[in-house]
Amino acid sequence: MKVLIIGGGGFVGSKLARVLAGRGELRGAPIARLTLADLQAPAAIDAPFKVDCVAVDITDAAATRALIGAGYDVIYHLAAIVSGQAEAEFDLGMQVNLFGSLNVFEAARALGTAPVVVYTSSIAVYGGETPDPIEDWSHQNPQTSYGAQKAAGELFLSDYSRKGFIDGRGLRLPTISIRPGKPNKAASSFMSSIFREPLQGRSAVCPVDPEYAHWFLSPRRCVENLVIAAELPAEAWGLNRCLALPGRTYRIGEMVEAMRRVAGDAAADRIEWRPDAEIKKIVLGWKAEFNPLKALSLGFVRDDSFEDNVRFFLADDIVT
Ligand SMILES: NC(=O)c1ccc[n+]([C@@H]2O[C@H](COP(=O)([O-])OP(=O)(O)OC[C@H]3O[C@@H](n4cnc5c(N)ncnc54)[C@H](O)[C@@H]3O)[C@@H](O)[C@H]2O)c1
Repeated sequence: MKVLIIGGGGFVGSKLARVLAGRGELRGAPIARLTLADLQAPAAIDAPFKVDCVAVDITDAAATRALIGAGYDVIYHLAAIVSGQAEAEFDLGMQVNLFGSLNVFEAARALGTAPVVVYTSSIAVYGGETPDPIEDWSHQNPQTSYGAQKAAGELFLSDYSRKGFIDGRGLRLPTISIRPGKPNKAASSFMSSIFREPLQGRSAVCPVDPEYAHWFLSPRRCVENLVIAAELPAEAWGLNRCLALPGRTYRIGEMVEAMRRVAGDAAADRIEWRPDAEIKKIVLGWKAEFNPLKALSLGFVRDDSFEDNVRFFLADDIVT
């Protein structure tokens, strides 16, 4: 079993790599080789199998074909320009999220072995005049360039699968919180920083009101779902290769109270509430209520409450 993670140096990709290293197998076969690819070669990880760390730019079709041409059974395509940056830098978002994804799918097709391709889409594909809650059959109506690029990628993932070029599986990720590390350029970045920073003794700014509601999943459950996505048999997906992952709808104020219950008043009191019109404009266009019946019936998982997300962050990401 040879596995490739494109975007393997990113937040979700590096967590997935560590989980695969711990498992040692995927789809019932021992992992013989794992390749982590990103704009800059990702840091090496300890694993019971060979790990290669390589630099690739997926906007370069020839480089992408050379990378994937080594031959893989499972390809995770996680590389992307995130929402806020794709909105601010339209051309870059198009090059990476749309044309870069097509380069990945084409290179996977060129293998001639129909590899499993797991693609991380986003709930940003939904928006505008769609009913609440979002059902499995709700149409995509993205209200950002990022959402449109992800939705276009989904269409081709499905068509390449229908043609038998690849065995594609697309997951519309909820906002993953609590994200460790530094703030990123996602418009949703505050949905992690208002917990991550106070939990480490630092202050943070919340740019939306406590009533703002959104759809969340913890990093731990997200990575479990990426494993499940690769392991499911192709037949389980049916004719629809992309689905919304399970998550939970929480109001920001309710999440802060969950943090207070787990970590105490001091952490919750480090949040400054300061509305930001630009961020609100993007995030108020996102949908908060989902009914992900297909994903739940296939065994995809979610957290029990936001207290889980806080506990997982403290256990997985805070080095004491
Ligand atoms: N984290 C979330 O809340 C969330 C929510 C919805 C969807 N997603 C999607 O999940 C995936 C992983 O997200 P993440 O939070 O780990 O993001 P991330 O930004 O941490 O990781 C993405 C990686 O892609 C790499 N990349 C960017 N351009 C590239 C290029 N041209 N060639 C090669 N690599 C390139 C980046 O260097 C980065 O390491 C992305 O596709 C993202 O759109 C994430």
